[in-house]
Amino acid sequence: MSQLSLQEIIDIVEKLKKHFRSSLENLDDVDHAKALESETLSKKGSIASLNRQLGSLDQELRQSAGAVINQARAELSADYEKALSKLLVQARIKELESEKLDLSETVFDSSFRSGRTHLITRTRQELEDIFIGMGFTVEEGPEVETDWYNFEALNIPPYHPARAGQDSFYLKHGQPESMLLRTHTSPVQIRVMTSQQPPIYAVMPGRVYRRDTADARHTPAFHQIEGLVVDKGITFANLAGTIETFTKAIFGPNIVSRLRPGFFPFTEPSAEFEVTCAICEGAGCRTCSGTGWIELGGCGMIDPNVFGAVGLDPEVWNGFAFGFGIDRLAQMRYAISDMRVLLDNDVRFLRQF
Ligand code: DAH
Repeated sequence: MSQLSLQEIIDIVEKLKKHFRSSLENLDDVDHAKALESETLSKKGSIASLNRQLGSLDQELRQSAGAVINQARAELSADYEKALSKLLVQARIKELESEKLDLSETVFDSSFRSGRTHLITRTRQELEDIFIGMGFTVEEGPEVETDWYNFEALNIPPYHPARAGQDSFYLKHGQPESMLLRTHTSPVQIRVMTSQQPPIYAVMPGRVYRRDTADARHTPAFHQIEGLVVDKGITFANLAGTIETFTKAIFGPNIVSRLRPGFFPFTEPSAEFEVTCAICEGAGCRTCSGTGWIELGGCGMIDPNVFGAVGLDPEVWNGFAFGFGIDRLAQMRYAISDMRVLLDNDVRFLRQF
């Protein structure tokens, strides 16, 4: 090969640069850019082969030409890196676009049924939310209880009818009649008071069991929510206000509550609390036997004997408790005439809510 002049080398390099840059500009794909890079800048590329030709030049020319080529290589490498990172970003954007899920294409298919929360669970969650909003905590206790928690600590005497075999499900475990399925959520009051220091503001929802024959208003397993407040200087007015606040929150402004004197061994004084019948809004109907009121639960000021059982000084602490049926409340709220449908798991019923 004849000797190249410096000018000729500069011309070749310029042409090569021009070609490289215009190719780079027109590329829209990472693989092509990599191919162009290898073709031009790799060990087997055109710049390297030009370099190899310098071997036959005399030293001075070789040095100047080498500098021109090295300079070009550096410039083109920088151009390539810049273009490559741009192409990589574009490729990533394209990839993400192609992976995007178009959810708007989901066509509503009326044969498709999704599951949902059971009415009782939903009512329980709503009650929890209301009480949490009022500053209460939510506590739970076991469904299998001892006689002490379910009865004795609650000041329920041995001759109380709830203790009778025909009312409670006793378990064959330990001493006869020492273990049972809890008949109410009130034993959780005892568990909370023996494990926490007052002040206590807690609600305790859960399943309870009684040997009732199922009918329109009873099922052998049902749900209650218990409320417990232990603090200093609590009054009956605080209890009535709490019940009225939750009644309004769950039933809306047209329903009010009222307390009637009642008796429970663990509260003194005790009351039964009733709410306006939601079906007739107080006018009187079959569901409320014409009275305009539906009984929801019981309540009262905590009996000093209960404080004694859990080791709290009734001279220092006082408070109130309440308990009512969640199923009964849901029955009222959704005007369900027969409670048994809540347990049948018939989806034709469950789907309505
Ligand atoms: N445990 C009672 C029941 O199942 C309901 C009840 C009444 C709970 C009065 C209370 C209360 O906390 O103070 O019939």
